Amino acid sequence: MSATEPLGKNLLNMKILNMKIHLNIIKTDALAEIKKAENLKELNLIFKKYLGKKGKISLISHSLKELSTRKRKKVGKELNEVKKFLELKFNEKIQKLKKEIQRKREKEEWLDVTIPGKKIALGHLHPITQIKRELCEIFQGMGFEIAEGPDVESEWYNFDALNVPQDHPARDIHDTFLIKQKDREKLSSKEKLIMRSHTSPVQVHFMEKHNPPLRIIVPGRVFRHEATDPSHEFQFYHLEGLMVDKEISVANFKAIIQECFKKFFKKPIKIRLKPDYFPFTEPSFEVDISCIICDGKGCSACSQTGWLEVMGAGMVHPNVFKNSGLNPKEWRGFAFGMGLDRLAMLKYKIPDIRLFHSGDLRFLKQF
Ligand code: DAH
Repeated sequence: MSATEPLGKNLLNMKILNMKIHLNIIKTDALAEIKKAENLKELNLIFKKYLGKKGKISLISHSLKELSTRKRKKVGKELNEVKKFLELKFNEKIQKLKKEIQRKREKEEWLDVTIPGKKIALGHLHPITQIKRELCEIFQGMGFEIAEGPDVESEWYNFDALNVPQDHPARDIHDTFLIKQKDREKLSSKEKLIMRSHTSPVQVHFMEKHNPPLRIIVPGRVFRHEATDPSHEFQFYHLEGLMVDKEISVANFKAIIQECFKKFFKKPIKIRLKPDYFPFTEPSFEVDISCIICDGKGCSACSQTGWLEVMGAGMVHPNVFKNSGLNPKEWRGFAFGMGLDRLAMLKYKIPDIRLFHSGDLRFLKQF
């Protein structure tokens, strides 16, 4: 009888010693196979062969009932020991194989934590956005709120409501982008659309919806039909300001604007107002600041004058109040408008306005 055959009836005729030898052969065979197993799948098959339901050890234990009590006790004990021993060996081998798998995986997935990481190129805010946010923060600190208006505007809001006469040169096609509309000539000025040429129309929009006292700034994009050169673009940025209350004077305007520039350039700045003309203010001024490059001594940036022109301003014209639904006898206010691009150019000494929209990273990365 070979060790691989089920014992069955033969067991009855076998001497105890032979049974023990037989069990030992099974044990040795199993051990050799366990040792050889290269993976868990192979090991599982070997387990089935010896310890599975129909495995060799199980078959013997089923046959035990055929034996005399004496034989059963002896063989049963031996069988149990072999079984336990083999179970232990199987478990040891399982652990060993699992460790090998783990080691292999670690080897494959190994990463060198000392290698310097790849730098992710982070973007940042455009210099004009930075300037815009800085100014918004400064004005918000002085109680101004931020208002916005549409880029596409009606002629009414952009011109008429702001007291700009019908024959004003700014209304000309040469200055303003008109939106193509069917039978445009027949439309009213409230229906005729253009790209806004300044942020001043937002004054009217805002006063229509809010009662004074009010303080707003309006940062936004404006469009002009212009040939580009180092100081002109067809699209640029304005910051409008409006303050309306019962007793507002030019002195209030001067104080606020002086504080704004002091905070913006981080040094005391002198302000000069010169008479100017805007249809929507009366009186109107040109606002100059002492040259931030030479501190007023005279240099090429300020054409040796010591002054830089930075904005237009004035006291809100009564007609603008009227067109916005407010009583000009009741309210007074100042308004101003400045170019954000120009301020950025002054602050960072940028020689050409066209650089802002050039998309040139060598330029943008400096900010
Ligand atoms: N809107 C003017 C421009 O486009 C700037 C300006 C001047 C705005 C005087 C104002 C103002 O509010 O009072 O050049």
